[in-house]
Amino acid sequence: YGDHRDLHYPLRRQRQMCIRDSHKRHAAGTVITIDGPAGAGKSTIAKLLAARLGFEYLDTGAIYRTVTFCLSRKSVPPVENDILRLALIGCRIKIEGGRVILDGKDVSGQIRSQEIDRIVSAYSALPMIRSYLINIQREQAVLADLVADGRDMGSVVFPKAALKIYLDADVSVRAERRMLELAARGEKAEIREILEEIRERDRKDRERETSPLLVPEGSHVAVSYTHLRAHETVLDLVCRLLLEK
Ligand code: DC
Repeated sequence: YGDHRDLHYPLRRQRQMCIRDSHKRHAAGTVITIDGPAGAGKSTIAKLLAARLGFEYLDTGAIYRTVTFCLSRKSVPPVENDILRLALIGCRIKIEGGRVILDGKDVSGQIRSQEIDRIVSAYSALPMIRSYLINIQREQAVLADLVADGRDMGSVVFPKAALKIYLDADVSVRAERRMLELAARGEKAEIREILEEIRERDRKDRERETSPLLVPEGSHVAVSYTHLRAHETVLDLVCRLLLEK
């Protein structure tokens, strides 16, 4: 969309309106949720939207990845028992300026490895982990207005969100995006291998019993067909939806 200035004023007004009415929708700030499968481009859209609205960005995938990183480093397998319960309490997770901090350290780099990609769904499927993390996520909305992305934002964590988006894309588009991300970090991977991993992660995220990936009730569904400039189309759609509300 060409002229950003046209959008800024109405969005600011929209934001003020959202904030004024927020107590009717949610206990705290205004929340916009973006759910969808791996590699759909949620974080790109969410970051741009948050910057434009002056909201905080909450990357809940990063929270699940950090817990997975913490537990796997302690050699705690993804099985619900007292060992996991205690280890979970021992993972001191904080969110500061949109970054997840583990035991006082920024682990943003380590949590995006292929190793974590492979194991994160097994840990995220555990109700013990999900119920532990739900409060950490909701607390963020007490502190600020949020654009939150993940798998269960609009269905479980923020069911009363002001606006819910479900972002999808074909698995080949998602695999290509993921490969570019890994390449940018100097990690080599075969496209076929990534396709397989994404399919497997989708299956686990969709089929788990607790908070599976689904299109939350009341969501607007957006599909991107290519990784190129796809965020502009989706962002445009989200802005229109906000203005229409
Ligand atoms: O968005 P991501 O690829 O960084 O998420 C990593 C994993 O975390 C994903 O495969 C499933 C899990 N996850 C989840 O179960 N619920 C969320 N709200 C966010 C992520």
